[in-house]
Amino acid sequence: MIVYLAVSLTVLAQSARQQTTSTGKKISPTLFGLFFEDINYAADGGLYAEMIQNRSFEYSPADRREWHSLTSWEYITPVFSYGSLNVETNKPIHPNNPHYAVLTIEHVGQPGVGENSKIPENKGVPGVGIKNRGYDHMVVKAGEKYAFSLFACQLSATPVALTVSLQDPRGKILSESKLTVNSKDWNKYTATLTASERSDSTSLVILGTTQGKVGIDIVSLFPENTFKNRQNGLRADLAQLLADMKPAFIRFPGGCLAHGDGLGNMYRWKNTIGPIEQRVEQRNIWGYHQTAGLGYYEYFQFCEDIGAKPLPVLPAAVSCQNSGGTWRIGGTGQKAIPMDEMKDYIQEVLDLIEWANGSVSSTWGAKRAAAGHPKPFNLEFVGIGNEDKITPEFEERFKLIYDAVKAKHPEITVIGTVGPFPDGEDFTKGWKYANNLTVPMVDEHYYQQPDWFVRNQYRYDAYDRKQSHVYLGEYASWGNKLKNAISEAIYMTALERNGDVVDMASYAPLLAKKNHTQWKTDMIFFDNEKVCLTPNYYVQKLFTANQGDYYYDKIVSKNSKDSTLAASCVKDSKTGDIILKLVNGGTASQSMKIDLSAFKKLASQAEQVVIAGSAEAENTLENPQAIAPVQSKIKVSKSFQYNAPAMSLTVIRIKTQS
Ligand code: AHR
Repeated sequence: MIVYLAVSLTVLAQSARQQTTSTGKKISPTLFGLFFEDINYAADGGLYAEMIQNRSFEYSPADRREWHSLTSWEYITPVFSYGSLNVETNKPIHPNNPHYAVLTIEHVGQPGVGENSKIPENKGVPGVGIKNRGYDHMVVKAGEKYAFSLFACQLSATPVALTVSLQDPRGKILSESKLTVNSKDWNKYTATLTASERSDSTSLVILGTTQGKVGIDIVSLFPENTFKNRQNGLRADLAQLLADMKPAFIRFPGGCLAHGDGLGNMYRWKNTIGPIEQRVEQRNIWGYHQTAGLGYYEYFQFCEDIGAKPLPVLPAAVSCQNSGGTWRIGGTGQKAIPMDEMKDYIQEVLDLIEWANGSVSSTWGAKRAAAGHPKPFNLEFVGIGNEDKITPEFEERFKLIYDAVKAKHPEITVIGTVGPFPDGEDFTKGWKYANNLTVPMVDEHYYQQPDWFVRNQYRYDAYDRKQSHVYLGEYASWGNKLKNAISEAIYMTALERNGDVVDMASYAPLLAKKNHTQWKTDMIFFDNEKVCLTPNYYVQKLFTANQGDYYYDKIVSKNSKDSTLAASCVKDSKTGDIILKLVNGGTASQSMKIDLSAFKKLASQAEQVVIAGSAEAENTLENPQAIAPVQSKIKVSKSFQYNAPAMSLTVIRIKTQS
């Protein structure tokens, strides 16, 4: 009898312990990454550090009705000089880049000479030339160096002297260099321009200062200080903000940009590698122009530079279903690559894998090596399609591409697509189709109100783990207020909890330039000099920079009836750190109880970061600090209470001692 009682008590004690003891599971080590698309001038005029707008004279009314080859350029003839400016196409540097400017210098004026000598126009450097105002003018900083280059060819019998300068709005010269174009062939000429003082309205001026005729193309100006000092590189401040997030992956080049506005507008990766003067420029689906200067090589290089896995998304051989219409209006414009061209298209997809991973002796690996990267880029994931309409044309083409990649590259994880919404016809059809084909992962997209994210935080708890896994490739709540960011934080704790079926997730869109924004809810706003980090950025950063690969449940006790309270606990095996994320989306502070008894040898002091404030607070370029994370140390023990402030996310990172 006594023995029996003792056994029963042990069972009771054990089951009581089981209810409260944490259990864990492996989760995706690449859960949180970045979505990059050239929307809102994110690439040209944004992350891509080129300062000259329309550097290759390829702008056209196809980009935007009022644009043409000389958009952003001004013809100038200071000091009563005269000549002419034309755009020609008969002797281009490369057929992919057909337009170039032709300057004819007939007469070079003399400053201070003649009857008009007293008027202001009769001063300064005389010549016949062109002036570029950049993307909303250029910002140059005192003492900083700028790498100037252009391609030019002599079209007259005699060489032509050019003066290149940076000028402030009043024409003050901040830096100047001279060169002589003395070859009938296109040659590249370079100079380093060091700004004598700061100006936020700088123009680049090129003046022909001797009589003659000269062809000019690919006029380029980069800060020397690009991210990691890469040539043809990225704006250092913006790239660093992305690097600071420590994303596990970067998806590129879109978004709708990937599958394009009609067949001729698809993003074809081969057009975006090699020398910039040979890349194929084209209309950007978001209503401007893509130089492809930030192309596949630069995307892969950036991923490598910041330790993120590259995730290129290629069209599924169909264009955006909104082609020829307005975004999400219409829905009949999907166009498919003709079946007799599919063999070549599939080869294009396979060639990308060879370009990224193949040996230097392979055809495409050799091109990567020639561009300066003999080592493979270690591509693991390829997205096929972007929220496409699930039509028979899509299905037929997707299968051909998928089968070919699977057969030739079983090591690559192909990511399929399930339409633009969290439910509905394309979503249902897309999922069914992907599961039938056993596609390893599919790309879900949704933009919703903040309360949707709160209400739907259990969405993935019900997903079948044996079916395709999820890449939540685009999501955001509509808005950049703190309440939006906190609703996303609630949802992200649920993504961690479901990190055994959600393999990847990325907020979208990422970057938005002031006055050039097509999508109003974005993660980072910027102009030519300043940045505004939204509360959404801070939330994303706290999750991307504090990812784990093991999830623990039952660590945090809170009022389970309150859906605005959420929490997660993960371990990062690389560091051994335990990371808590505690979210309170309510209007009053709330107590949470943390039980760390499942872990051994925890440090007693931990790093804590808190984002908190009023629900309606948001940051702007003018007031970028309304919401900012606050970092501090916190004492932790096996069991402790945490008072989560109203409308807050707290991340606590605890070291384990070995
Ligand atoms: O992120 C902005 C756009 O939203 C993407 O280009 C598209 O995929 C989605 O509809």
